[in-house]
Amino acid sequence: MENSLTMLFKLAILISLLTSLAAGDETLGFIYNGFQSANLTVDGIAEFTSNGLLKLTNNTRQKSGHAFYPNPISFKNSSSNSSAFSFSTTFVFAIHAAEYPTLNGHGIAFVVAPTRGLPGARPSQYLGLFNEANNGNASNHVLAVELDTIQSSEFFDINDNHVGIDINQLKSNISAPAAYYEDRTGQLKNLTLISGKPMQVWVEYNGDQKKIDVTLAPFNSGKPRTPLLSLRYDLSPIFNNAMYVGFSSSTGSVLTNHYVSGWSFKMNGQAQELALSQLPKLPRIGPKRRSKFLTIGLPVILASLILAAVSGVVYVIRRKRKFAEVLEEWELEYGPQRFKYKDLYIATKGFKDKGLLGSGGFGRVYKGVLPSSKQEIAVKRISHESRQGMREFVAEIASRSTDVFAFGAFLLEVACGRRPIEPRAESEDVEILVDWVFGFWCRGGILEARDQNLGSDYVVEELELVLKLGLMCSHSEPTARPSMRQIVQYLEKDTPLPELSSLGISATGLTFTDGEGFDDFAMSYPSTMGLTGSSSIADSLLSGGR
Ligand SMILES: *[C@@H]1O[C@H](CO)[C@@H](O)[C@H](O)[C@H]1NC(C)=O
Ligand SMILES: *[C@@H]1O[C@H](CO)[C@@H](O)[C@H](O)[C@H]1NC(C)=O
Ligand SMILES: *[C@@H]1O[C@H](CO)[C@@H](O)[C@H](O)[C@H]1NC(C)=O
Ligand SMILES: *[C@@H]1O[C@H](CO)[C@@H](O)[C@H](O)[C@H]1NC(C)=O
Ligand SMILES: *[C@@H]1O[C@H](CO)[C@@H](O)[C@H](O)[C@H]1NC(C)=O
Ligand SMILES: *[C@@H]1O[C@H](CO)[C@@H](O)[C@H](O)[C@H]1NC(C)=O
Ligand SMILES: *[C@@H]1O[C@H](CO)[C@@H](O)[C@H](O)[C@H]1NC(C)=O
Repeated sequence: MENSLTMLFKLAILISLLTSLAAGDETLGFIYNGFQSANLTVDGIAEFTSNGLLKLTNNTRQKSGHAFYPNPISFKNSSSNSSAFSFSTTFVFAIHAAEYPTLNGHGIAFVVAPTRGLPGARPSQYLGLFNEANNGNASNHVLAVELDTIQSSEFFDINDNHVGIDINQLKSNISAPAAYYEDRTGQLKNLTLISGKPMQVWVEYNGDQKKIDVTLAPFNSGKPRTPLLSLRYDLSPIFNNAMYVGFSSSTGSVLTNHYVSGWSFKMNGQAQELALSQLPKLPRIGPKRRSKFLTIGLPVILASLILAAVSGVVYVIRRKRKFAEVLEEWELEYGPQRFKYKDLYIATKGFKDKGLLGSGGFGRVYKGVLPSSKQEIAVKRISHESRQGMREFVAEIASRSTDVFAFGAFLLEVACGRRPIEPRAESEDVEILVDWVFGFWCRGGILEARDQNLGSDYVVEELELVLKLGLMCSHSEPTARPSMRQIVQYLEKDTPLPELSSLGISATGLTFTDGEGFDDFAMSYPSTMGLTGSSSIADSLLSGGR
């Protein structure tokens, strides 16, 4: 007796417990503002991205993906043969054409099903919801709201961009092109499901009115007052007491990615609003829409800068090349006396034809004004690229053969570091360079005549050669002087220098004749001489002028 009373008591507690549990389920609700910590059951190719998107399909063809709320939900009052409860749900989705922007893949569907997952469902046009065998079978107990991007004529699809309510089959009970009614004007505005842009969907079932409403809108624009689809239908025979809610999607032969970024559900009430600003960002697919500055402005600016830099470098290089100083071997010794090519270039205004005085062998002569001293000069332009260079130049001088004497004196200038005519320190008399060098030669020490500034920086043979050659060229008897041709041969050591004595040069034999062509040479020293003396050379200089 006591036992039976205890049993009854325990039974009463159990019943009240079950009743309260059932009552708790009646108001179940959940919200996912992103799926970062979501606890959904996924299968197929569905996965969560690192930033919290539910990615129902990846780039694998002919596959489907599912995501379900993990727990069963009571859609009916279990204690009686009652009608299906009211419910409401909203979610944000996006469909990206992953392969061809103009070719559609398949769609996405919100689904209420008796199982968590849809075993045996086919991908592609079956959207992972049904298969060939069970499509349309009343024992499916499936409600789906499809967002379809392919027109499947076998299911009487209206187009390739539609929203439909499907009950137990893919042939929609009602469908419409994807669009929304604008609240302000009441106009229907088209939407493109495959645009990749996020959109929000509301699915609501009113258990009293037995009515299903489906509303679509662009992201963050609010829920339109007028639903796109409204179907009077009693879901009571469709739903079991316990059902699962989730999403299904599929890929076909054209790859498409389906994303859900937020989801809210409520049984017997209004689904909680999604926190749109908190939803994870959808990935950009296809070319980024860049500003005109980035697409046109920046490349143009960069190209201009690069062009300017390159032109600058080219200009500097060309300028450097143009004014590059090419020191030929023969010039090295006379470094400090040389004019820079740049100065000559400026003096002659760039070797303009206007300043051309004339042209001789191996080059043209230009008139110019030195920028520093305003001195008028004549410049002969010889290309150093001509192989011969100095030899040609010397050969040209040699062709004006009367200058041999001057050339000899020139050599002695160079080697002794003295002027052809130096005033003597102790008297008003002048010292003739040739005589002076000759004196050293007579004493058997011609090298003593060398420029003391040379120090030890000379080659004995070369200096001796130059000094002796200088004396030879200054021979009083013009016929005894070597020709310029020979001079060049001596200087280049093609022919050995003959002994001076063999040329009739002896301790007594070097004299100078009047009127000898020293004048060209002497013009280099026009005013510094201050000649008063008794020298025959001085006389010749003064009398033999041009
Ligand atoms: C996720 O769902 C499973 C199955 O319903 C449950 O066992 C687990 O505790 C849940 N985890 C979280 C974090 O909610
Ligand atoms: C898609 O997901 C499935 C399951 O996670 C995986 O096996 C497959 O390699 C994925 N495909 C691609 C292209 O990432
Ligand atoms: C379900 O049944 C219980 C008891 O029969 C009742 O109190 C409750 O209002 C019902 N719920 C709905 C949503 O009809
Ligand atoms: C349950 O409801 C259905 C229709 O909604 C009705 O046909 C059936 O007779 C009811 N059963 C009971 C036991 O009341
Ligand atoms: C519907 O499905 C059930 C269960 O799978 C099966 O027994 C029945 O034969 C199917 N009906 C049709 C018409 O295919
Ligand atoms: C809606 O679907 C049900 C179940 O498949 C079907 O019996 C009914 O005829 C359909 N109604 C319309 C209007 O298409
Ligand atoms: C909207 O879409 C429908 C169906 O695709 C089409 O007939 C209609 O011309 C479109 N309207 C506009 C304004 O694009």
